[in-house]
Amino acid sequence: MSGQSAARRTVLKGAALAGVAGLGAAACSTESKLGHAKNPTPTEPVTLGAADEIPVGGAKLYREQRLVVCRPAEGEYKAFSAQCTHAGCVLDKLEGTEGNCPCHGSRFDVTTGKALRGPATVPLPEVPVTAKGGKLIAGPEA
Ligand code: FES
Repeated sequence: MSGQSAARRTVLKGAALAGVAGLGAAACSTESKLGHAKNPTPTEPVTLGAADEIPVGGAKLYREQRLVVCRPAEGEYKAFSAQCTHAGCVLDKLEGTEGNCPCHGSRFDVTTGKALRGPATVPLPEVPVTAKGGKLIAGPEA
């Protein structure tokens, strides 16, 4: 009898451990879906693509690189982190020069970084950007 309950305890312990492991995996996948990152700005130069893809007066979202770039005038570019300052989700779309956060509905002016609608109140951090050889490069040495 006591041997049986020891075996049962072992099984239960195994199940408990599997439960913990399961939770860990779920936390990871949620995190990557939300796009959380400790540092919202690049630590090394990032090539974004053709500078001409952005119309004058428009903006473009580079979701994979977590950046948004606007072009206020010919030959002038400004970049911001595309990571929401509320809880770290990456903006999912632009309507004109207004960026939308899919998580809780914050909106940002991507020409200034300013939070237009909460819950976010802190502006998107600006990131240096330059056009070199027709390509946009963002990051510390841009
Ligand atoms: S993370 Fe963007 S609104 Fe909450």
